[in-house]
Amino acid sequence: MCGIVGYVGPKQATPILMEGLRRMEYRGYDSAGVAIINGDGVKVKKAAGKLSVLVEKLRTETPRGTVGIGHTRWATHGAPTTPNAHPHLDRSGKIAVIHNGIIENAPVIKKALQNRGHVFKSETDTEVLAHLIGAYYEGNLEQAVAAALWDVAGAYGIAVISADEPDVLVAARNGSPLLVGVGEGEYFVASDASAILEHTRSVVYLDDGEMVVLTRDGYRVRNLTETHVEKPVNQIEWDLATIERGGFAHFMLKEIFEQPESLHNTVRGHLLEEEGSARLRGLNLSDEDYKRINRVIITACGTSWHAGLIGEYIFEEMARVPCEVEYASEFRYRNPIVDENTLVIAVSQSGETADTLAAVREAKRRGARTIGLVNVVGSTIAREVQGGLYLRAGPEIGVASTKAFNSQVAALAMVALKMARLRSLSLLQGRQFIEALQALPAQIAKVLERAPEVEKLADRFAEAHNALYLGRGVNFPVALEGALKLKEISYIHAEGYPAAEMKHGPIALIDENMPVVFIAPRDAVYAKIVSNIEEVKARGGKVIAIVTEGDSEIGRLAEAVFTIPPTHDLLTPILASVPLQLFAYYVAVRRGCNVDQPRNLAKSVTVE
Ligand code: F6R
Repeated sequence: MCGIVGYVGPKQATPILMEGLRRMEYRGYDSAGVAIINGDGVKVKKAAGKLSVLVEKLRTETPRGTVGIGHTRWATHGAPTTPNAHPHLDRSGKIAVIHNGIIENAPVIKKALQNRGHVFKSETDTEVLAHLIGAYYEGNLEQAVAAALWDVAGAYGIAVISADEPDVLVAARNGSPLLVGVGEGEYFVASDASAILEHTRSVVYLDDGEMVVLTRDGYRVRNLTETHVEKPVNQIEWDLATIERGGFAHFMLKEIFEQPESLHNTVRGHLLEEEGSARLRGLNLSDEDYKRINRVIITACGTSWHAGLIGEYIFEEMARVPCEVEYASEFRYRNPIVDENTLVIAVSQSGETADTLAAVREAKRRGARTIGLVNVVGSTIAREVQGGLYLRAGPEIGVASTKAFNSQVAALAMVALKMARLRSLSLLQGRQFIEALQALPAQIAKVLERAPEVEKLADRFAEAHNALYLGRGVNFPVALEGALKLKEISYIHAEGYPAAEMKHGPIALIDENMPVVFIAPRDAVYAKIVSNIEEVKARGGKVIAIVTEGDSEIGRLAEAVFTIPPTHDLLTPILASVPLQLFAYYVAVRRGCNVDQPRNLAKSVTVE
């Protein structure tokens, strides 16, 4: 979603802001702009479309100045046009504002300002906020921003500059991520660390209700009531190389290929081979707590929700604890039954997904224990849960989640293992599970070596209009995830189903033009899935099957098979998802799609 970057320091701001915006392109956006304090005014340059359009505009006239703000907008209120792009100015034209989030009472404030003669040039809630700050301005930007924020309801991350205070940048957050970058004699604000990583790795994460004032001499964090807030400075562990493509054609491909390492990092240091269990100190759960838990609820969105569904099978099968998986957007608005013996697990790559965050807050309010399995260090969900486990998958830049998904499954598996060993799983079973987990990185590497096979397969199916993905048991969520990967980056309509459900409707779609992808490893339901493959074959459908090495049966029914190494039944999703990620990737490339930034999608969904 929208990206914010701001700069105060000795250097020219425009190139720094543009580089920051480029680093945040992956989040998804449809217009961009910068505002620079330039002489005695504020110079705004903005454009609908990709950053290249803005770059072109800046070529004819690059605003000069050492304080500025930049924004990439993902349209919510108002179309993705140049007038709606940020920054927006107040009535005087001297105050510029960029904003992520939604000001819910903007229509009411707008009406009141219009009654006082304000004229608006855009359809955005952000311009309303800019005018409101301007209306409060009496020579002190910090006070004007604070006063305006008392009036607004909704979510925001904002950065504001004023021509009348050329050395000051004020930023604030409420429900939309924002951090301060602390450099050598220069200071930054950003919604995403990748925007400023080139300049500093020292960051201060703002919390909801906090404001920061940056000047050339430093920064100061306060809350809306003017109370000073002391904040720790955190060090970001990863460097620039980890957010660059490193020779791969796309971030998505790079991230798929990083999985042997990312998965190894997720489990590293957590597995207790002797005890056949896991050490998960960050969860802040004692053995007694684990034993007391009588219900697990996993809440998440999108791909993370699919990882949660796999988690459900693992929790119930190994730990014998009832587990439900719920879309965070549903959980937050219904009346969920949870109590102090319910463990609510929030799963999120970004740690900023608005619905997942709201679900965590709702669960906490009702007295449940909340833990987070989150990738982005310092993110809001990671800070709000009562305990957590970082996925350590490294930055995921491609919009379609790949390596984070498999790390989420592994993290869920470790929590389930720990719980299972305190309840129903034998030492030997625990050790076998650990052995299987430890073997996965090398097994994924083996699967990846055969990427060219998947590429050839993609060539044959790139022109399809629809696709069906079918799996059973723990591989049913893999079918959902495979279908989601294909549709989100190649725009081919794809559906995932439990294989047996096919007879209850989707079978009507099957004809000779319909590729049907089966996830069919040799597990407890193997014979059942072979029957389902026969049913598709009998109707002329084109079967692609993911099977276990050594399988000789499915080959005679399928148009194409791709083998994966044998593993523990409950861990097959991790291996089976890799060829499906590659398949979606290669199909999308064949179709000329923008793989890393698919249309309409955002990497981090910070609005509901
Ligand atoms: C799909 C995808 C999304 C995310 C979803 C949740 O490839 O990436 O479906 O999984 O938006 O995001 P996080 O995990 O950041 O909460």
